Amino acid sequence: MEQSVAKKTVLLTGAAGFIGSHVLEHFFNKYPEYTFIVLDALTYAGDYRNIPKNIAASPNFRFVYGDVRNAKLVDTLVAQANIIIHFAAETHVTRSIHDDTVFFETDIIGTQRVAAAVVNHRDHIERFIHISTSEVYGTALQEKMNEDHPLIPQSPYAAAKAGADRLVMSYYITYKIPTVIVRPFNMFGPRQHLEKVIPRFVTSCVLGEPLTVHGTGDSKRDFTYVTDLARALDMIAHAPAEKVVGEIFNVGSSNAISVKDLAEIIPSTISKLNKPEIKFTSYAVNIGNRPGQVFRHESDSSKIERTLGWKPEISFEDGIERCVAWYLENEDWWRSKLWMRCVPIETEDGKIELH
Ligand SMILES: NC(=O)c1ccc[n+]([C@@H]2O[C@H](COP(=O)([O-])OP(=O)(O)OC[C@H]3O[C@@H](n4cnc5c(N)ncnc54)[C@H](O)[C@@H]3O)[C@@H](O)[C@H]2O)c1
Repeated sequence: MEQSVAKKTVLLTGAAGFIGSHVLEHFFNKYPEYTFIVLDALTYAGDYRNIPKNIAASPNFRFVYGDVRNAKLVDTLVAQANIIIHFAAETHVTRSIHDDTVFFETDIIGTQRVAAAVVNHRDHIERFIHISTSEVYGTALQEKMNEDHPLIPQSPYAAAKAGADRLVMSYYITYKIPTVIVRPFNMFGPRQHLEKVIPRFVTSCVLGEPLTVHGTGDSKRDFTYVTDLARALDMIAHAPAEKVVGEIFNVGSSNAISVKDLAEIIPSTISKLNKPEIKFTSYAVNIGNRPGQVFRHESDSSKIERTLGWKPEISFEDGIERCVAWYLENEDWWRSKLWMRCVPIETEDGKIELH
């Protein structure tokens, strides 16, 4: 590893959200000599409680409440950083069908603000890691998607993220800033918002509500435990520049699981955890398909394995147990978010449904 003993300042945008907070925790524990700045607007998806208390109290940590679209603020913070990891985004596909304007504003304009600030301060920026998403690929044209798969975004969220992804690449080509684009597949773990499928199913079980499955439930996703992504980002942040700068890396487990299967796995995981005090139900109901549904989505993550030796370390079975256990033990965290689990959208057959 290069430069791991030097003091560095890491700026993480959107790290009061799910993934960013885990990445912050990983870096903070591994690099106690570093300084960390988090910029987050605390939207409905952000939660200050996601930042572990020991980090929030540390003199090496600073939380800045603010918007990634604020060019002046972003420039001031980028000026102080050596490594930037840009997570801040509107992230929920269904919500982007409900109302998409803010997706284009935050995901594209916000990314432009960060990229432009990196150009201004490129003399001391070592790495600018842009968190894109596998959703930019759309439904897989071949069984496993590598980084050369065409970009065919199928929702406003995916289109906004595809715009940001290409914007960052254009800045790399034009200004030679030290960018790395990362395209994670579906991540799961503690502190993920209730609108996403795994937390929604766990909380539905506990609340005695049906597990609502879109369409037939046959659509598949490639799930990776979030701490494995944190390790991948650590490797990317500290790899020699010639190995990673200007590159795009998928991060996924290549293990696709259908939503229908998840609706069985989650109740059986709750049973397995054997907590007699938790009463739960488990029955699935099928509702209309979400328009623009991506049906098959499986990663080929061999590039990051070849380049940096990254492989997922946490199996789906182990990850799902840790994740479900966390939701069972942290009801206080999720109870206040229940009203945000669903939004009304028009389904493929023209009905308005809560998804
Ligand atoms: N969760 C996944 O499975 C997944 C998969 C692939 C890619 N991603 C990408 O990873 C990143 C993080 O995803 P997540 O699941 O942690 O999201 P999240 O919704 O849990 O968190 C997003 C964070 O961004 C903040 N934010 C939103 N708008 C902002 C703005 N204008 N200014 C500053 N902060 C703002 C929110 O307050 C929140 O803390 C996103 O870029 C997302 O597109 C997520």
